[in-house]
Amino acid sequence: MSHIAKTRLTQAQLDAHWMAYSGNRQFKADPRLIVSAEGKYYTDLDGRKIFDGLSGLWTCGLGHSVPSINEAVAKQVKTLDYSPAFQYGHEKSFELAEKITQFMPAELNRVFFTGSGSESVDTALKIARAYWRKKGKGTKVKFIGRAKGYHGASVSGFSVGGIPANRTLYGQGLESYHLPHTQVPGTEFTKGMAEQGKERAEDLVNLITMHDASNIAAVIVEPMSGSAGVIVPPQGYLQRLREICDQHDILLIFDEVITGFGRMGAKTGAEAFDVTPDVITLAKQVTNGVIPMGAAVFKQEIYDTFMEQGGPDYMLEVPHGYTYSAHPIACAAGLASLEEIQQQNLVERVKEMSPIWQDCVHQLRSVSPIISDIRNYGFAAGLTIAPVDNEPAKRPFQIAMSMWDKGYYVRYGADTIQLAPPFTTEKSEMDSLINALGDALQEQH
Ligand SMILES: Cc1ncc(COP(=O)(O)O)c(C=O)c1O
Repeated sequence: MSHIAKTRLTQAQLDAHWMAYSGNRQFKADPRLIVSAEGKYYTDLDGRKIFDGLSGLWTCGLGHSVPSINEAVAKQVKTLDYSPAFQYGHEKSFELAEKITQFMPAELNRVFFTGSGSESVDTALKIARAYWRKKGKGTKVKFIGRAKGYHGASVSGFSVGGIPANRTLYGQGLESYHLPHTQVPGTEFTKGMAEQGKERAEDLVNLITMHDASNIAAVIVEPMSGSAGVIVPPQGYLQRLREICDQHDILLIFDEVITGFGRMGAKTGAEAFDVTPDVITLAKQVTNGVIPMGAAVFKQEIYDTFMEQGGPDYMLEVPHGYTYSAHPIACAAGLASLEEIQQQNLVERVKEMSPIWQDCVHQLRSVSPIISDIRNYGFAAGLTIAPVDNEPAKRPFQIAMSMWDKGYYVRYGADTIQLAPPFTTEKSEMDSLINALGDALQEQH
């Protein structure tokens, strides 16, 4: 199905936009243009309704065009459209910071606002280094990430990230080393957390032996890897990382840009997997995707370290921040979004409905022999698709295009298909999404 004839866009306009993380040539030859969104559905240029099978980019768990968020944003634009982020403030950022802490583990109660997930990761990594310097341990500068991890598009993000395609073009990054990922052979098609794989945390001990804890600032992992295709931590794995970090005075950062605010059927991945890190990075769901915003949330002891050593009180304690930190419109959207999640008890709903989602997704195993793995947790699922023509990315692309034609938006990345339906998704909607995916998979045989 080609949409090029229907769009009002000129070729010059199509050419002018260098699209993010997209196959520009393929898209511009056959644009998939969305014109509006309401509830769990987009409407495309042909007027077709398309189910939002990834909640935007893991952003819109509440669905689209939520009246309370729209009203809060409209009111805020009219009242205070922008407020300088440095040295002056507005009330909404403090209200939102306190609201965010209601979703965090109790010890994490100091919120630094950013404009995106990448900036949240940058913030966490910079503050980790600065924290150790303030503690008189200025040699602690290296970072440890994990294979298949995704931590954003900045230089620090690709350095600690572990998806090869996101790294290879860019040369030297920050000095970072990587734990192995936790997709252990033999655990394919596990529902939820696998029993094997905890031992992969021991590689952290080896990395510490190699580089010495006196040189390592922090370990950063997604509690559940999203962009790599939903890699769920094995039982006991995150606990073991926590123990090793504690033993060696290394900060543990959970990148919860996807897992924060309900996707796991818990307020955070930290809560879902019962491990408390020192820092949590956030973005996406905090404003339901309506306006860019992120945050890094720190243990109070980290904040206090900077305050105690801040010098005269007219001085900055940390020379760090963004023009759009705590943007008033983003704060208004954030307050309304988090209020909706609480009022509608959506964290609990995702938890209650996730066994239904799990059963639904795992039914696909019997539908198609080209699925080599299915993983799930909360309202998230990832399928690994066996490669064709030695090209792992080809089939997922074709499957996603077929799904789009059938009226379903899903994400494809490397050899995976990723699913993350809105928090309010009904069983009948899960069934129709999975049935359509089964059909799209069978077309590949
Ligand atoms: C875990 C994680 N960290 C960081 C990011 C980067 O966020 P952003 O694209 O808002 O910069 C993402 C985006 O998908 C993510 O999933």
